[in-house]
Amino acid sequence: MSGNELSRRDLLTASAGAALGLTTSWSAAAAVPAAEGTVGAVRRFPEGFFWGVATSSYQIEGAWNEDGKSPSIWDTYAHQPGNIKNNDNADVANDHYHRYKEDVALMKGIGASAYRFSVAWPRIFPTGTGKPNPKGLGFYDRLVDELKAAGIEPFATLYHWDLPQALQDQYRGWQSKDTAKAFADYAGYVAQQLGDRVKHYFTINEFRSFVEAGYQGFDIKVGGGKTVHLGGAPGLKLSNGELNQVRHHAVLGHGLAVQAIRARGRAGTQVGFAENMLVAVPVVETPDHVKAAEKATRDLNADFATVMLEGRYTDEYLQKCGKDAPKFTAEELKTIASPLDFVGINVYKPNIYVEPADAAPGYRSIPINASHPKMQSEWHVFDPYCLYWAPHHVHSLWGAKAIYITENGCAASDVVADDGRVYDSDRVMFMRAYLTQLQRATSDGVPVKGYFHWSAQDNFEWIYGYGNRFGLIYVDFKTQKRIPKLSAAWFREAARRNAVV
Ligand code: NOJ
Repeated sequence: MSGNELSRRDLLTASAGAALGLTTSWSAAAAVPAAEGTVGAVRRFPEGFFWGVATSSYQIEGAWNEDGKSPSIWDTYAHQPGNIKNNDNADVANDHYHRYKEDVALMKGIGASAYRFSVAWPRIFPTGTGKPNPKGLGFYDRLVDELKAAGIEPFATLYHWDLPQALQDQYRGWQSKDTAKAFADYAGYVAQQLGDRVKHYFTINEFRSFVEAGYQGFDIKVGGGKTVHLGGAPGLKLSNGELNQVRHHAVLGHGLAVQAIRARGRAGTQVGFAENMLVAVPVVETPDHVKAAEKATRDLNADFATVMLEGRYTDEYLQKCGKDAPKFTAEELKTIASPLDFVGINVYKPNIYVEPADAAPGYRSIPINASHPKMQSEWHVFDPYCLYWAPHHVHSLWGAKAIYITENGCAASDVVADDGRVYDSDRVMFMRAYLTQLQRATSDGVPVKGYFHWSAQDNFEWIYGYGNRFGLIYVDFKTQKRIPKLSAAWFREAARRNAVV
């Protein structure tokens, strides 16, 4: 085929794209001819790289009380007036529970080769423990079959914050070790049931977010000395000592779940976590700045990623906690650091910039400027370099053999234009810039195996309700109509070429 001619296969693919709202100029062929110019050739990802999209159960499923599902702490929290912007809730959300077939077809249409979804614990064990609910599991069974049939690799997250309310009532949630144990039982059960088709599991999503926001509330630095306050279910305001214990129980739950998944899953099952690790970015890319940034990243994550990957709380962390330090045993630390197959990190923003310092701890934090560029979410400081440094630090600090970017993306003020399309030019800019840095990491030898864009579709963005749209696919929440955005076309082309485009 010469450069300008379209084959019959190209035309078929192009018309499938047109059906999705992608114009033919955005959606050429399924396979890229080797000699298609230099575009992409220089910014290619490694062979076998997964181009994924991600969602979570509470944010998209709806069907909050169907087929035996019990309420989660997020159902309870969102039903209380005043907790969520506009008093939105996710009772219906994207109605994905009933529309999953259409949603899988859309994912296929935008070229995703992997899908990271989460399993709603209260669907599987309505009281948190005890007798499983076959109808709840049935949904994930059907979803996984649909994904496999579409050639999309399923990656399951076992906890994306929707704890069964029953466990909050019975054990005060993650304040008790019993929740960690119940989590492991549930995780092992899911791995046993889905293990013939699901090979990759993430135990817990964003330890830091659900623990800090849900059990105390936390402030994120966004530049110019300003902070943004985030809260969430179950909406508690614990003391520092109590909070440290919750953190410890969360990482313990992870470790116990890793062991349960290994014990009950099939041979070849792979497991890791998906943490929003705090990332320090060096001001200057020289060895001394990079060392300072590594040290800062290890310190900043002492309570979650560092203890899970090293099996000990750092001396600095314990000293800083003082009398509020978590209570733990040596045996628990061993469990927490159960060997992993990969490390998953959600990367959106730099947390601090650092330069080296002679005095301990060996680095100095540089404030984020008031005029620093941001994306639409008020917390979202824009800097593509964090997607280079985050996996780089995970590799250099902990020698991770496989890394997944389990989330990356941005909210944008998306609207449907008069011609029926959604022109999210800022999201395209965001993806191109961030993925350029990720590609740079892979070409430097950092073993990143895949990228999951957050999110496949617009969805319920926690305390912000439906206002902040993160999807590659636009959702009209009144009609449930889905429209792939301009960024979906970008993603499709990047996935097709396995390169930044
Ligand atoms: C982190 C969370 O895992 C996800 O649920 C959330 O919607 C996105 N980041 C965007 O804030």
